[in-house]
Amino acid sequence: MIKKALVLISALAMLVSGSFFTASAQDAPTPAQIAAGAAETRQSVFKLLLFNLVPIAGMARGAPFDAAVAEKNGRNIAALAPMIPDLFAAVDTRDFDVETEALDVIWEDPAGFAEKAQALMEAAGTFADVAAGGDRAATLGAFRALGGGCGNCHDDFRVDND
Ligand code: HEC
Repeated sequence: MIKKALVLISALAMLVSGSFFTASAQDAPTPAQIAAGAAETRQSVFKLLLFNLVPIAGMARGAPFDAAVAEKNGRNIAALAPMIPDLFAAVDTRDFDVETEALDVIWEDPAGFAEKAQALMEAAGTFADVAAGGDRAATLGAFRALGGGCGNCHDDFRVDND
């Protein structure tokens, strides 16, 4: 047991020292690399949002209703939504040539952007609460507001591609 713990600790120590103490200035990411990484990271959150929304949208289009999945995915969306403004506040990519559909207005009107994320979080929370009640019609009724929470932000803050 102790031996195993020691091996683990030394492995962790190597890991930590590898990244913290041997990284030279040469290895430090450039601002352009940081910007590209930030764009990828935020896009993965949107992919996760979509991953959670798709089964719900399927139910709205006639797939078998599963209240437990609807509730769980609604909660997942509510948990992810507050990360959106944080991710954009962390790195302003406006001056970099990154692959993105984010509009500059995100950084010009951060409060307006955060409001849209907040609205999504609230719609997703309400949706999950309704889904927990198990009523198909009521849940699908709440789906409109949830989907609207995505579209309302895209309308103002994302390149218009739909
Ligand atoms: C607060 C604003 C906001 C909300 C709310 C929002 N989005 Fe977006 N979404 C964006 C922006 C901005 C981008 C562009 C990001 C980029 O390209 O850097 C984007 C991009 C995307 C992408 C493309 C990601 C990629 O692969 O590049 C998908 C998919 C997406 N959103 C789905 C959703 C879904 C589903 C919801 C709701 C559950 C949602 N979004 C809610 C602002 C928002």
